[in-house]
Amino acid sequence: MQRALELAASARGATSPNPWVGAVLVRDGRVVAEGATAPPGGPHAEAVALAVADARGCDLYVTLEPCVPFPGKRTPPCAEAIIAAGCRRVVVAMEDPDPAVGGRGLALLRSAGVPVETGDGAEAARDLLRPYTRHRLTGRPYVIARFAASLDGRTATRSGDSKWITGEAARDRAHRERAWVDAILTGSGTVLADDPALTARPGGVAAERQPLRVVVDGRGRTPLGARLLREPGKTLIATASTAGAAWKQALTAAGAEVFECGDAEVDLNLLMDELGRRGILSIWAEGGATLLGSLFDGGHVDEVWAFIAPIVIGGRGPGAVGGEGAALVAEGWRLQSPRVEVIGPDVLVRGYTRAQLP
Ligand SMILES: NC(=O)c1ccc[n+]([C@@H]2O[C@H](COP(=O)([O-])OP(=O)(O)OC[C@H]3O[C@@H](n4cnc5c(N)ncnc54)[C@H](OP(=O)(O)O)[C@@H]3O)[C@@H](O)[C@H]2O)c1
Repeated sequence: MQRALELAASARGATSPNPWVGAVLVRDGRVVAEGATAPPGGPHAEAVALAVADARGCDLYVTLEPCVPFPGKRTPPCAEAIIAAGCRRVVVAMEDPDPAVGGRGLALLRSAGVPVETGDGAEAARDLLRPYTRHRLTGRPYVIARFAASLDGRTATRSGDSKWITGEAARDRAHRERAWVDAILTGSGTVLADDPALTARPGGVAAERQPLRVVVDGRGRTPLGARLLREPGKTLIATASTAGAAWKQALTAAGAEVFECGDAEVDLNLLMDELGRRGILSIWAEGGATLLGSLFDGGHVDEVWAFIAPIVIGGRGPGAVGGEGAALVAEGWRLQSPRVEVIGPDVLVRGYTRAQLP
């Protein structure tokens, strides 16, 4: 199962809106085949492994419950393929949270007389598939809020200077995370201040698959010359109905998609629903304090990645998260399962804002 989890992790992000899954076929204690989910339309992990070796008498280890037939399904159902292949036993890390599958895959296997065990590697599998679970249970993407701050919590100086607070290694770490998410989200304030590319460039090299760039821009302030409009991949500008029609047309002509959600400012609930409908499972939110504040206030944030640099900025520089915030310390977003890493001279503190969905 450990190997199956590694395979699942290797496909993370490349399979959306499908879950990233790993599968290993074992005969007499030896691995005879393995597989990870292919990009959408391609085979699932189980099918990849079953295509490599004769599965008769093998044990199959798989990180997520095998799928069953349902209307609109593009690939052949894995539970049926496993039965046909003659597997001796199936070990499943977690049940599928998708209501279209939820337990039916396990039931189908058992009704065909295939012994099924569940729970081995469950915690790691659930952790790995948090974005998928959030999406299937709420219809909305999983949001990771990322910021880089000084020891005193500031993200820029009083003059607005913000480059660079953290070192190269920490910034590269963020790029590696950008490379697996489905979308990167920022606000018009950051576009105006920094003119970011909003691309994934792990190790300084542009990733082949670029996440969707999403700019929250209620008043139509994103300039037509913004760098992110020229980068590879797609850009979605989320705006309000009151923003100028000419600006919207010009952005569309420049290759961006303009999506109206809200009257005066962007309604983040509508935006999250729309991104979820489009099959966006995960969002890396790199906004300034205004956008991050709205995301926290609205309960949209699932996970936090805070890069903290050993520098004190002081003065009136902006904090990392604005909005209303918590009235009491007890109401703050104290991270669950926090992890701390030292990255060069900086520290990364990350964790979850809420418990894993069932
Ligand atoms: N250190 C870091 O990690 C980091 C990361 C990113 C940015 N920054 C810094 O942050 C500064 C910019 O911060 P910022 O707060 O001005 O920019 P921001 O949070 O990126 O963008 C905020 C803007 O988004 C628009 N918006 C539309 N609907 C919204 C909604 N529902 N909720 C929130 N915002 C909405 C608003 O502009 P409209 O009224 O035009 O719609 C708002 O002013 C820059 O100095 C940048 O360098 C630092």
